[in-house]
Amino acid sequence: MANFVKIFDTTLRDGEQSPGCSMNLAEKLEMAHQLERLGVDVMEAGFAIASPGDFASVKSIAKNIKNTTVASLARALTKDIDAAAEALKGAKYPRIHTFIATSDIHMQYKLKKTKEEVLATAIEMVKYAKKFCQDVEFSAEDASRSNPAFLYQIFEAVIAAGATVINVPDTVGYTSPDEFVALIKGIKENVPSLHKADLSVHCHNDLGLAVANSLAAVRAGATQIECTINGIGERAGNAALEEIVMNLQTRKDLYQLDCRVHTKEIYRTSKLLSSITGVRVQPNKAIVGENAFAHESGIHQHGMLANKSTYEIMTPESIGLTENKMVLGKHSGRHAFEDKIKSMGYELDQEALTIAFEQFKILADKKKDVTDRDIEALVCRRMVQIPEAYKLDRFVINSGNTITTTSSMRLLSKTGHILEEVVSSYDGPIDASYKAIDKLVGRKFILEDFVINSVTGGTDAQGEVNVKIKNKDRVYNGHGVSMDIVEASILAYISAINNMFYEQEEKKEV
Ligand code: KIV
Ligand code: ZN
Repeated sequence: MANFVKIFDTTLRDGEQSPGCSMNLAEKLEMAHQLERLGVDVMEAGFAIASPGDFASVKSIAKNIKNTTVASLARALTKDIDAAAEALKGAKYPRIHTFIATSDIHMQYKLKKTKEEVLATAIEMVKYAKKFCQDVEFSAEDASRSNPAFLYQIFEAVIAAGATVINVPDTVGYTSPDEFVALIKGIKENVPSLHKADLSVHCHNDLGLAVANSLAAVRAGATQIECTINGIGERAGNAALEEIVMNLQTRKDLYQLDCRVHTKEIYRTSKLLSSITGVRVQPNKAIVGENAFAHESGIHQHGMLANKSTYEIMTPESIGLTENKMVLGKHSGRHAFEDKIKSMGYELDQEALTIAFEQFKILADKKKDVTDRDIEALVCRRMVQIPEAYKLDRFVINSGNTITTTSSMRLLSKTGHILEEVVSSYDGPIDASYKAIDKLVGRKFILEDFVINSVTGGTDAQGEVNVKIKNKDRVYNGHGVSMDIVEASILAYISAINNMFYEQEEKKEV
């Protein structure tokens, strides 16, 4: 029987720290539910002391997630541990994850502490965390550049103090598989109490080796891997969960290890994250990239037709990627629509289902072939529902290459008011529309990013727009889908504005 390796997901903490990947409370909660469905053993929900927003998200995830351990990060400081413990109070399986740096370079320049002081702090803080929580993880930050003998000493001491997991981060993505294996073996041989704790690894991808280093470490005996969806994270990111898990599954002959992740949820989890953050994965990204299962060359296609195993080492179905074929038409009823989205792994409540079905009907009326990818674009974000400060009622554009564009915009406010504005611009329909919305909302936002993609091929494809807008140093994501790309752009802008109001309300409540 294969042994198990635990999957610790830190998308909501280390991942969320990466530029452009911040999420609001509703988005984090939706992602947390999806991570639970994915079957990760642990999800790191945030860094409770970092901000009131982080605290609120850890608290809300802790309250709502019942089948997965929920962790909060804390520096080795009592105030951090207090915040983590408080935020985790409602969790069924809470874990406090405390860390301190152990490399000479960090101890000397960042902490300005001797190694004796670091050792004493680590022991004291693990003992302190144990007062609140049975499950305590200790990380030796920058472990891969630390003196191994010091690591053995500190790990032995924190296990004696009650740590249930010791974590070996390659914080700056510096190590190599051989070197990391030697470090893991050294820890196994020189930490006598290791059998009482899980041995975890946490690799960053600065040299492109995060997944290779994590997999090498499990072959050497690590029992937990820390990783993120799509490999998002500080700088070049963290080890990508989907790559780790599919390596374990596809090369079981080599690793002889199982994990509890339901691989069929991988595609959907990846999509949800991209759609929330607006950060898409590169087309050739392993496992979840658009081209990961596309066989273009004639030789490959010929081989695939003869026998799939010639060029396919894993199936698209194994990650939950359904074939992109015509699925439903304008005569399909609500039941057929509901069955379809269920078979794609989406669960919507009745209200979200009604809205998605209405949108599907509008789409099916306009578009000949409604495919899996179209439906996915419609329902993917339907579960992340936030109160809408503004709704698009209607817009009219007058545009051409010889005239100034005019956008007449009508919005409905949550107070039930109809707001109307007409704006002209030399810079086209999107500029005119965004200026009109700014006037109606009474603010001037900076458009930090605007990305448009087509959901499928064809001139009748839906356009999917992700925007990032800035207001007083904070950036907000917005997302819109429509067959009309100007409408998709307007919807994305309004959704970013709604996210801003939602976050401001959220802050008032904390
Ligand atoms: O990269 C790192 O060292 C970390 C720790 C806090 C685990 O993220
Ligand atoms: Zn990290």
